[in-house]
Amino acid sequence: MTAKTTGVAVPENQDTIGCPQASNACVRPAEQKDLATIVELHRRAFGPGRFALTAYRVREGTPPISRFCRIAELDGRLIAAVRMTLIEIGGSKGALLLGPLAVEPAHVNQGHGRALISAAIAAAREQGLALVVLVGNASYYGRFGFAPVPAGQITFPGPVDPARTLAFEIVPGALASFHGVIRAADPGA
Ligand SMILES: CC(C)(COP(=O)(O)OP(=O)(O)OC[C@H]1O[C@@H](n2cnc3c(N)ncnc32)[C@H](O)[C@@H]1OP(=O)(O)O)[C@@H](O)C(=O)NCCC(=O)NCCS
Repeated sequence: MTAKTTGVAVPENQDTIGCPQASNACVRPAEQKDLATIVELHRRAFGPGRFALTAYRVREGTPPISRFCRIAELDGRLIAAVRMTLIEIGGSKGALLLGPLAVEPAHVNQGHGRALISAAIAAAREQGLALVVLVGNASYYGRFGFAPVPAGQITFPGPVDPARTLAFEIVPGALASFHGVIRAADPGA
């Protein structure tokens, strides 16, 4: 299915794959061939300080592209990307870490971030995941249903502002069964 990200709502319970129409933005799974462009997008969106962020520590050593990562393309050019990393929380599986999410500066505020989040969550739901966690701005992610995690319930292997630790329950009530430190999970699991 094609997912046009411009002016089209993406159903929350549906993955959104395929790009047959080059004239409109669409969402598809990220592939190895996208990696260099994604790295360049991150460099422009976040700058060199990005590697010092605690969330990078969780992702360190994991494959840069998982089956949950999504990109948006416009006229065949990658304009936005979201990385999703399988994690364990206090040893419990079934969760993903969302981020980085980045949109080309020339294309912000056109719904691409929303479309990528929606598609990535849909993929996670299809594959039986229960929870998505991220470190980010509640004033942005709150609109998608992400809410602050109670302080201390879920922690990172490094300093993170607790007010920026947000979670989205794919399975209602799932957050209650996750406590402890986030670590990368086996991506094959
Ligand atoms: C933040 C970002 C991912 C949003 O993606 P986007 O495609 O521009 O956003 P969307 O079109 O989905 O949503 C637009 C809405 O989000 C709001 N918004 C955008 N960035 C925001 C931010 N950092 N904080 C709060 N709200 C934000 C816009 O004002 C707009 O609000 P409106 O719908 O009420 O007008 C994108 O601007 C970006 O890549 N920024 C630089 C990198 C970054 O900060 N990434 C997020 C941390 S992982």
